[in-house]
Amino acid sequence: MLITLEGGEGSGKSSIAVELAEKLDAAGRFVTCTYEPGGTQLGGRIWQIFQDQDPPPITPLAELLLFEAARSQNVDKVIRPALALGNVVICDRYTDSSIAYQGHGRGLTTSLVETLNHAATGGLQPDLTLLLDVPVEIGLERARRANKEAKTEDLIGEESLQFHLRVHGGFQEIARDNPQRVRVIDAARPLDDVVEQSWQVVREACGLP
Ligand code: TYD
Repeated sequence: MLITLEGGEGSGKSSIAVELAEKLDAAGRFVTCTYEPGGTQLGGRIWQIFQDQDPPPITPLAELLLFEAARSQNVDKVIRPALALGNVVICDRYTDSSIAYQGHGRGLTTSLVETLNHAATGGLQPDLTLLLDVPVEIGLERARRANKEAKTEDLIGEESLQFHLRVHGGFQEIARDNPQRVRVIDAARPLDDVVEQSWQVVREACGLP
C-alpha cells in the first residue's frame, strides 16, 4: 500500500507522516516513511541545489527533470523494495507535487508532467493520497516562520503569492479529478484534529479496526 501526502507550503505533511507511521506501527503494520525530493542520497543532493544561497538559474523543464530524477531514485531504491516486503509506504510528496508546482505553478503542460511522472515511477500510482489543504496565506506564514527558525530557505518556498495560489488551485483540480484516490483533509485546524481525521482515512484504507 502506497500512501502519499500532498499539499502546499506549511500544510504540516511531515508532522502528519510521523504521526501516521506511529499509529500504523502500533497497529502492527510495518511502515516505511520516505519523502521527495530529499528521501535518498541523490535526492538530498538535488534538493541542495534549491537551497543554495545563490542558486543557478533553472528553467521550468530543468526543474521538473531534477524532481523526476529524485523521484526515480526514490521509487527504485526505497518505495518498490519496501512494497515488495509488504510494508505500508508513506511518501511525503510524490507525482501530484510535480503536477501542481511545475505544471500549474511553472506553467508546464499537465501532459508533459504526467509523461515524466510515468517515466520516473514506472507507472507506480499511490493507492491513497491525503491532500492536506490549508489556505495559501496561512500555509506560507507557517512555512516562513519554520524556515526562519531552521535558517533554511529555498527557491520554491520563496516564490510569489501568485505562484502558490496557482499551486493550490492545481491541487484542488487533482482532488476533483481523482475522487477515488485523493481525500482532502482540512489542515488549517489544530494538529491533533488533522492527525485524527487523517488517521480515520488511513485506518479505513488499510482495513484496520
Ligand atoms: P517541502 O516538502 O515543503 O519540504 P521541506 O519541509 O524540506 O521544505 O519542500 C519541498 C519543496 O519542493 C516544496 O516547495 C515543493 C517542491 N516540490 C516541487 O516543486 N515539485 C515536486 O515534484 C516535489 C516533490 C517538490
